[in-house]
Amino acid sequence: MSNPLWQDDGDKQRVRDASDIVRIIGEVVALKPKGREYAGLCPFHDDHNPSMAVVPHKQIFHCFVCGTGGDVFTFVRKFHKMEFREALEYLAQRAGIELKPRRREPEGGEEGVSRAKLFEANAAASEFFRAIYNHPEHGKAARELVQRRGIAPAMVEKFGIGASPDRFDGLLLTIQKKQLDPRAFADAGLLRTKLESGHMYDTFRHRLMFPITDMIGRVIAFGGRKMREEDDPKYLNSPESRVFYKSSTLFGLAQATRAIQVERTAVITEGYTDTIACHQAGLENVVATLGTALTREHAVILRRLCDRVVLLFDGDDAGQRAADRAAEIFFAEPLDVVVATLNRFTDAKDPDELLKREGGIDILRQAIGAGVDVLRYRFARVARSVEGGGIAVRSRAVEEEVARLVELGLSEVEPVRRRMIVRELARLADIGEETIARSIPVARGGRNRASGSEPSSAAPTATATAITRLANGSLNAIEALLGCALCDSSLIATLDASSRLLVAPERFETAELGELAEGVFGNEEPRDLAALLPLLKSTDAQSAATILQARTERETGGDGERLRRHWSECLRRAKLEAERTGTKLEGSDTESLVARIAAAAARNQRLGSDLKIYPKAN
Ligand code: UTP
Ligand code: MN
Repeated sequence: MSNPLWQDDGDKQRVRDASDIVRIIGEVVALKPKGREYAGLCPFHDDHNPSMAVVPHKQIFHCFVCGTGGDVFTFVRKFHKMEFREALEYLAQRAGIELKPRRREPEGGEEGVSRAKLFEANAAASEFFRAIYNHPEHGKAARELVQRRGIAPAMVEKFGIGASPDRFDGLLLTIQKKQLDPRAFADAGLLRTKLESGHMYDTFRHRLMFPITDMIGRVIAFGGRKMREEDDPKYLNSPESRVFYKSSTLFGLAQATRAIQVERTAVITEGYTDTIACHQAGLENVVATLGTALTREHAVILRRLCDRVVLLFDGDDAGQRAADRAAEIFFAEPLDVVVATLNRFTDAKDPDELLKREGGIDILRQAIGAGVDVLRYRFARVARSVEGGGIAVRSRAVEEEVARLVELGLSEVEPVRRRMIVRELARLADIGEETIARSIPVARGGRNRASGSEPSSAAPTATATAITRLANGSLNAIEALLGCALCDSSLIATLDASSRLLVAPERFETAELGELAEGVFGNEEPRDLAALLPLLKSTDAQSAATILQARTERETGGDGERLRRHWSECLRRAKLEAERTGTKLEGSDTESLVARIAAAAARNQRLGSDLKIYPKAN
């Protein structure tokens, strides 16, 4: 009897065993060793001090501030916003594990194409564009352009450069021939529909195609450069879709991540070809924005990878404007941001052009090395604006500057940097540092910045709030019991029938905690955290499990005796709480007790046979 769910579970286990959580997380968040663990900036809340712990010997992660935690699947699902199956496939592919074929997946319903389908469409298109590029006839113009521009074959490979053919139905015909779903390609912006006739046609025609990927290298969009002088625009980009958000994407990031971490610095250029030219010249920590300004989402992605960002601009004008913006965007981030401009060192119009010249790389390095801290850049401008002014003019300008910086989060900037800022401003206004320091309000708990470009600034959900409370708020007795049981599953056996009713799922505050309680207490053989995590369906239940375990372990100092005392104490409290709130445990009423136990047993039985939640161990 082969049950497909069983096979899935075996796959899940194999993939988990083959994936190292430190490596997987370490690729998107810089991790520093800390005792037996690693610490990094938590990507699940607006973290400014490393509060996420990654624990190699348990293969889990958890954040003590927001409470998010779980195993490698939890992380990948939450960070990359993947469905479980996507996460499984991604990790399997990385570990070189072949998954058993899956059952037919349900179709994406009415409300459009799933994210998975968009990834598939972009991947198929990328393959098509590469085939065209290599086609003796249809790829000729593209290959000639690449050669003329001095892009090395290795870079064509590394960046997956392709070409779209000079016709309206190249991609369309391939989609039809392979019987792929044209809707997915339309949603990804690769096909367009003629309004009058409803016919579809290729978006990208006769262009050199640069795939744009997410951090882990999945194609999410394309930038297509014209190959004919008279065509317009010069670059045509895919429209935004459910997998492509311009404001949080950086061209070349997947190719640059490792170097950015090693160098602890990211260099941001203005163009695709600049980024490619830099990589070709051996500068591999280079990315580009997608023809748009930098956003706070970019800043947030980068601050998890490195400590320093160099904004490399072609000319002073763009540099000055962008520096002003960047100063505001990056202001409260724990990142040093430096502005470097090329035109002070060369007449080449951009890095791409410069790197084609003899010794160009040295000049580029020189320009990068001469970068100026964005804040000094900004203050220098304030200084120029008050030049020759009296003390009143100066202090007014500095007051305004302080007010703006406070709006941007000055109170929460870490002390060393804040002192630097105060010192610079004091010098500007020619007034004492203490006067300025005193005008800065003391940081309050919540951040309250004015920039308005906060990513996902939506109010936290009730569940998120509940999980944050599990991390550092007060626990009620049954939550504390859960925490104990997660630390030592042998404690569960000490529960008698009436105490089991205390920890019944419906007695917990949220559905996720209920799911967790069911997983911990609702089964005959006890499970430890590692065995439990893959059985929990919601990532919030996984977070709850991980954070409760970590918290309890911390509070009992990992001492078995203390844990047992804590357990007994919480059990006593739980009984009292239940009595006080009038919850009938019917411990004295034999008949109903028997009935409740029978009901609980039946529920266990039912869940025990529900392989989706509780595959029976054998
Ligand atoms: P540039 O016009 O400086 O192009 O635009 P480039 O990178 O030097 O390109 P080549 O070397 O002439 O091929 C810089 C960036 O602005 C965006 C692209 O991201 C480009 O890389 N851009 C430019 C567009 O999105 N659309 C355009 O029409 C032009
Ligand atoms: Mn260029």
